[in-house]
Amino acid sequence: MIDDIPENTLNELSRLVSIHTGLHFPEKKWPALIKGIISVNRQLQKDVHHLLYCLRNPSPPKEVIDLLTDRLTVGETYFLRDKNFFQIFKDQIIQGLIHYPRKKTKKLIFWCAGCATGEEPYSAAIVIDHILPEISGWEISIIGSDINRMALDKARAGVYSNWSFRETPEPLIRKYFTRTEDDRFELIPRIRRMVSFVQVNLMTENYAASLNCHDPIDVIVCRNVLMYFNNQNRIRVIQNLAKSLVDNGWLITGPSESGFVDAPELTPVRFPNALYHRKGSPRKSDSPDFSIRATHQKNISVPSVPKTRRTGMKNTGPSRRSTDVKPPPPTGKPIYDLYQEALTDYQQGDYRQSAQKLSGIVSGARNGNPSFLMRTESMILLAKTHANLGELDQARTWCEKAIGFEKLNPELYYLLSTIHQSANDLDAAITSVKQAIYLDAGFIMAHFMLGMLFARKNRGLESAKSMNTALSLLRLKDPEDVLEFAEGMTVSRLVETIKSMTARD
Ligand SMILES: C[S@@+](CC[C@H](N)C(=O)[O-])C[C@H]1O[C@@H](n2cnc3c(N)ncnc32)[C@H](O)[C@@H]1O
Repeated sequence: MIDDIPENTLNELSRLVSIHTGLHFPEKKWPALIKGIISVNRQLQKDVHHLLYCLRNPSPPKEVIDLLTDRLTVGETYFLRDKNFFQIFKDQIIQGLIHYPRKKTKKLIFWCAGCATGEEPYSAAIVIDHILPEISGWEISIIGSDINRMALDKARAGVYSNWSFRETPEPLIRKYFTRTEDDRFELIPRIRRMVSFVQVNLMTENYAASLNCHDPIDVIVCRNVLMYFNNQNRIRVIQNLAKSLVDNGWLITGPSESGFVDAPELTPVRFPNALYHRKGSPRKSDSPDFSIRATHQKNISVPSVPKTRRTGMKNTGPSRRSTDVKPPPPTGKPIYDLYQEALTDYQQGDYRQSAQKLSGIVSGARNGNPSFLMRTESMILLAKTHANLGELDQARTWCEKAIGFEKLNPELYYLLSTIHQSANDLDAAITSVKQAIYLDAGFIMAHFMLGMLFARKNRGLESAKSMNTALSLLRLKDPEDVLEFAEGMTVSRLVETIKSMTARD
């Protein structure tokens, strides 16, 4: 019995929730499930037996599913989440679709399935806005869908707070948003009109009817959704999504999800630092846009990059088969290729070489491509590169320049704090890490770092307070989760570290 709900009832509820919504609640996630159930029951003024009765019905009342998903889904999202994807989307995927069309009509349909509060489809609209002259004459349709109707209401309103812009360059905020009286940001109507929103449960079978779109889709973006499903539901949803794609259309999943995709009609296609899937079989030679090389290798793994919020890249794991995509011919090396090379140099310790390539990207001179998407990434890597070379003044300068572009990004203040620490300027390090925490109160490593900094300044009470905050945030996480910005450290490892440190004091 947990919170007055017998275990067998919880088991059944978890199974039924999975059937109707796809959401997977294994035993370790029961506390979240119970919280949701209690809240739904309170709202309906009914008890758990009524909920069970409703969910046992193969078609439960919509109100019950709506209430459940309002409470059980995780709607974490922000503008330009994973810029690497948006760069590939802009430079490769859209270019391929328009230069080598597969449909008779000049119409492209993009569907963001599981778009939460809309930042993802609006980001796609903003990226498309940047290439409008190239795609003039094309009818573009962007659909955002989610199971959560409250999230969709917010998406339709198009008004966002600071937190949605944590990785958005300032110039883009200025160009596409107007500030509201209550200090939020409203998307300009021109971009809002490019996206339509509709409620779709990915566990239903007939997407065309739910989307009210009977044409096959060119690109389906379904990122950070399948990770909440169990394997059986993932397979079912992926097969269904694949059916909705046009031949040669793309299925884009999140960085840690591409390993889930294993459908015979989908071919993995490797990009620098990403693996996406394309409908159709691999071909030896294709149109010049994507000179696909079929590798015929069974186990290809994409180079793994330490997971950060920014690259979002976990090891995508072995894939069934994979093909490489070459960039379109005329413009030379795409920015993300260059960035990837610089990243590889950095990881191999060749900091000078890395800095050289990155300087090329940030100067924006190369290929006449100002790279509004990869510029901040490159500045961050430049800051790290100089820090590793012991050139702390330059490291600080690049980090501050990056902050100039993304003032709301907590990660940048955290990086600046580490640079100040290396320069032994503990007061400045404390100020910067406090700014990171101000922007993201749940930033565990920043609380931990603040605790360490206070300890170094012999401010024991403040140090203990920060460590306790880190500990209470860590308790909400899965012990085996790898922490962001922690060089691969797991939650349980950091808990042990903090405990042993505080025990010593
Ligand atoms: C973490 S958000 C991802 C948002 C966005 N795709 C991104 O990557 O930033 C996951 C979204 O999936 C939605 N979702 C979960 N189950 C779903 C289902 N069965 N059908 C449609 N959407 C679902 C949730 O409501 C939530 O908004």
